[in-house]
Amino acid sequence: MNRNKPPVIRNKGARRTTGRPQRGKSPAKPAATNLRAVAATLIAGLLNQQGSLSSALDVVRVPDNDRPWLQALCFEVMRHYPTLQALLTPLLHKPLKERDQDIHALLLIGLCQLRVMRIAEHAAINETVQAADALKKGWAKGLINAVLRQYQRQQAELEAGLAPAEAAAHPQWLWDAIQQAWPGNADRIIATNNSHPPMTLRVNRQQESRDVYRDRLDHQGIAAEPCAFAPDGLRLRSPVPVDQLPGFYQGDASVQDESAQLAALLLPASPGLRVLDACAAPGGKTGHWLEIEPQLHMTALDVDADRLRRIEENLQRLDFPETTLRCGDLGFPADWWDDQPFDAILLDAPCSGSGVIRRHPDIKLLRKPEAIDALVEEQQTLLRSAWSMLAPGGVLLYCTCSILPQENAEQVARFLHDTPDAREEPIDAAWGIACAHGRQLLPTEEGGDGFYYARLRKVIAG
Ligand SMILES: C[S@@+](CC[C@H](N)C(=O)[O-])C[C@H]1O[C@@H](n2cnc3c(N)ncnc32)[C@H](O)[C@@H]1O
Repeated sequence: MNRNKPPVIRNKGARRTTGRPQRGKSPAKPAATNLRAVAATLIAGLLNQQGSLSSALDVVRVPDNDRPWLQALCFEVMRHYPTLQALLTPLLHKPLKERDQDIHALLLIGLCQLRVMRIAEHAAINETVQAADALKKGWAKGLINAVLRQYQRQQAELEAGLAPAEAAAHPQWLWDAIQQAWPGNADRIIATNNSHPPMTLRVNRQQESRDVYRDRLDHQGIAAEPCAFAPDGLRLRSPVPVDQLPGFYQGDASVQDESAQLAALLLPASPGLRVLDACAAPGGKTGHWLEIEPQLHMTALDVDADRLRRIEENLQRLDFPETTLRCGDLGFPADWWDDQPFDAILLDAPCSGSGVIRRHPDIKLLRKPEAIDALVEEQQTLLRSAWSMLAPGGVLLYCTCSILPQENAEQVARFLHDTPDAREEPIDAAWGIACAHGRQLLPTEEGGDGFYYARLRKVIAG
C-alpha cells in the first residue's frame, strides 16, 4: 500500500443519525441529521477544547454503516487541522463568533474534502453547504459556498503562503520541539505523524504461539507480518474490525502497538511477585504482563473510574479475574494502598502523547505548549510517589508515549539526581535510541509508535 497517498473515502450524502449509543454511556446529541453536520458538531467541541475525538466518537449516535465514514472524516480533519486552519484564516474576512464553531468546523470539513480527501468537488461543496441547514444555520450557506469556491480559485497562491510547520500539518510549537529534539529524524517523525497508523496485534502466549495465530488469521483472509521487535506482535496489512479477529472475545489476541508491547518484556515476571501497574487503563500493558506470568499478584490502578472499567473488561476477556483493581490517585497512596511495598512497578505516565499523534491526531489541536511544563511536574510527582511504594531491590519501569526529552530522559535525570537509592539499569535492546538515560523509540511508518522506557532499581541499603 502506498501510505503517502490519501485514502479514497466514499462520498456520503445526507443521512439520518439515529442509532444506538455505544458502551452504555449517555449519548452525545448532535443538533443535526447529516453526517457532515454531525462531524461539525464533534469538531466544534474539540475547537472549544472539550473532550477528545475518540471519546466523542465513542458516544455519538449514528448508524453502524455510517460510523467508518464519519470517523475517517473527523480523523482526516484533525490530521490536517494546522494546514486547514492556516488556509482558512485568510479566506475569512472576520473570525466567526464563538457560538458558531460548528460553522468554523464545517469550513474545515469542506477544505479537507477538497484538499485531502478525493471527494468530487461539486459534491464536497454542495453537501457541506447543505449541512448548514442541518445545523439550523441556513444563514451560513452563502458564507460556506463563497469560502470554498474562493479556496478553489486561489488554491496555488494560498498553499504557497503556508509556513513550513503549517504545510507539514503541525502546530508551530510542536514542529519546533521536534526539530530541536530530533533534528536528524524530524522529517520522518513528521511524515509518520501525518500517516495512517497500522493495526498491530499482541498474541496471547498463554493461548498459542504467534505463528499459529498468524495461520488462523491467514485462514480468515487477514494478512499479517511478525513485528520486528515484539515477540508476540503481528502487524496487519490492513486494519479490520476486532470482531473479525479469530478468538478476540476469547482473549486469543489484543490490539496493541508494537512499541507498547515492549513494556512488559522489560519488567520482572515470576510467580508470586507483588506488582503494581500504576497508570493502568485501559489495561493493555497489564494484560501483557499477566500473559507473560499469570501468577503475578497484580494491582492495576487508575484515577479515572470510567477508564478503570475498561481494564476490567479487558482482563475479563483475557481471563485474569484475580487482578486487584483500584480507582485512586497514584500521587495519594494513603487513599488506596495497603502499605505493602511492591516488587515491581510500571509507571506508564500521563504525557503529551507526542509519540502517538498518528493515532490521536486531535493532539495537534488539543495539546498546548504551556501545558507541557505542568505535565512534566506531574510526572515527577507520580514518579516519586511510585518510588515510595517500591520495595528495596525492586524495579520501576518509567515509560511515556512521548518523544519530548523533558518528559523522558531529562525527567529521569532529575529523578536520579534527587533520589540517592535509585540506580538506572541500562536497557540493552536492538530497538530504539540510547539516551543519556533510558531508550527512546521514535514513531516510524513501518514500525511502532514513539515511546520511551527507563528502568530504575531501588538499591538495598547496607
Ligand atoms: C498512558 S495512559 C496508560 C495506558 C495503559 N498503561 C495501557 O497500556 O493500556 C495513562 C493513564 O494514567 C491515568 N492517570 C493519570 N493520572 C493518574 C494518577 N494521578 N493516578 C493514577 N492514574 C492516573 C490516566 O487515567 C490514564 O488512564
